[in-house]
Amino acid sequence: MLQDLPTPTTLREARSCVLETERLTLRRPTLADVKAIALLANDRRIAESTRRLPHPYRQDHAAEFVGALADDPRETVFLIENNFVPVGMVGVDWREPDAPELGYWLGVEHWGQGFGTEAARAAIDFTFGEFAVEHLIAGARVTNPASRNILEKCGFQWTGVELHRFEALGSSTPVDCFRLSRSVWASLKNWGSSTRRSR
Ligand SMILES: CC(C)(COP(=O)(O)OP(=O)(O)OC[C@H]1O[C@@H](n2cnc3c(N)ncnc32)[C@H](O)[C@@H]1OP(=O)(O)O)[C@@H](O)C(=O)NCCC(=O)NCCS
Repeated sequence: MLQDLPTPTTLREARSCVLETERLTLRRPTLADVKAIALLANDRRIAESTRRLPHPYRQDHAAEFVGALADDPRETVFLIENNFVPVGMVGVDWREPDAPELGYWLGVEHWGQGFGTEAARAAIDFTFGEFAVEHLIAGARVTNPASRNILEKCGFQWTGVELHRFEALGSSTPVDCFRLSRSVWASLKNWGSSTRRSR
C-alpha cells in the first residue's frame, strides 16, 4: 500500500475512519458521546496516568475536547466501544509530525480484559498502514506497569526516562519513554508461526 506523509488534510480525513478489532470498534467521538466520555474519564486513577486529562473531568471538558477535534488536525482520536458501549479512548498526537505519540485510557471498570492492548494495536496498525511515518513514540509513568506492558507487547522499546508535566498532578513526574519503529512493527506483523516436525 502506498502511504502519504501526514498532512492536515489527510489527518482530518483519517478521523472519519472506523477501525474494527475482534471485540472493539474504534470511531470518531461526537458531541453525542460527551456524557459517556465524562463519566468514564472522571477518575483520578486515569487523570494521574495521562498527561492532559484534568481532574475532576466534567462534561464541559469532554464537550470542549470533542468540539476542538473537529477543526484540529493535530490529533487522530478514536472512541473505543465494546458491544456499542464506550469504554475509553485511543489516539495519536501529531503535534510533532516526526514523532507521533500514541496515547490511550480506559474507564476503570473496563481494565484487565485486554482492551488496552487490542485498541493500541488497532491504532498502531492504522497509523503505520495509513501514513509514511518511520516510528511512533509513547510514554508511561514509571509507576504504570499496565501501560508499560501494553507498549512492550506492541513492540515498543524503552528509550529512557524523561520528566513530563501531568495536568491532574499540577507538576512533573518521571515517565518511561518508548519508541516503536516501522521495521519492528512490520517484523511482528509478519512473524508467522513455525511448526515442529517429529524427529
Ligand atoms: C493502562 C490501561 C489502558 C490498561 O488497560 P487494560 O485494558 O487493563 O490493559 P490490558 O488488559 O490490555 O493489558 C495490561 C497488561 O498489564 C498487566 N498489568 C495490569 N496491571 C498491572 C500491574 N499493576 N502490574 C503489572 N502488570 C499489570 C496486565 O496483566 C496485562 O498484561 P498481560 O496481557 O501480559 O496479562 C488502563 O489501566 C488505563 O486506562 N489506565 C489509566 C490511563 C493510562 O495509564 N494510560 C496510559 C498512559 S498513555
